[in-house]
Amino acid sequence: MNVLVLHGSARSGGNSDTLAERVLEGLAGSIPPGVTHFRPIDMDIGHCRACGHCSDGQGCVLNDDMQGVYPRFCEADVVVVAAPMFWGYMTSQLKTLFDRLEAIATEQCFGNKDFVLLVTYRHYYGSIVEWLDRIAKGFGSRSHAVLCRTFDLSTGQDLPIATFPDTLHEAFSLGKALQRRGR
Ligand SMILES: Cc1cc2nc3c(=O)[nH]c(=O)nc-3n(C[C@H](O)[C@H](O)[C@H](O)COP(=O)(O)O)c2cc1C
Repeated sequence: MNVLVLHGSARSGGNSDTLAERVLEGLAGSIPPGVTHFRPIDMDIGHCRACGHCSDGQGCVLNDDMQGVYPRFCEADVVVVAAPMFWGYMTSQLKTLFDRLEAIATEQCFGNKDFVLLVTYRHYYGSIVEWLDRIAKGFGSRSHAVLCRTFDLSTGQDLPIATFPDTLHEAFSLGKALQRRGR
């Protein structure tokens, strides 16, 4: 099994990263999966230019770190998207990466996968869940989501994910279920 983790946060070891760790712990069965991590905030990933070059299957003209992402994404059985909400959607670095995936938006690369969306948020998560559900379904893949409000509405304080053991367990259990699926 090949697992790809896209770390959408700028904060290493933050809430969404911790959920991703739990999913990976659940996925680690008797035959450990191959895991690749990408952290777009630390990568050289240019914006899609909408030049249309990729539309005839020739790949992306931009020669940057996405060239390393494309093969890993295509071969992944499980794609974990750690996505803190920023202004009602995913972080800009994660969105830039997904825009560039347009170059491989084929059934071969997006089909027959399990997408795992890990959303940490203060107020709202709907837009990103709806987005991934639609993408996954459109390519015949499956989508799963673990959602956590890391915010105390009564005090207005952000809370660390460690204070949500049930959600951490949910992430672990999801990893375990995907591992058992024995792809
Ligand atoms: C610049 C910025 C914008 C944010 N915008 C939103 C938002 O629109 N909606 C929301 O629910 N949470 C928002 N948040 C809260 C984060 O999504 C939340 O704190 C999350 O748990 C951070 O995850 P991380 O530790 O993985 O980075 C925002 C946080 C920051 C720093």
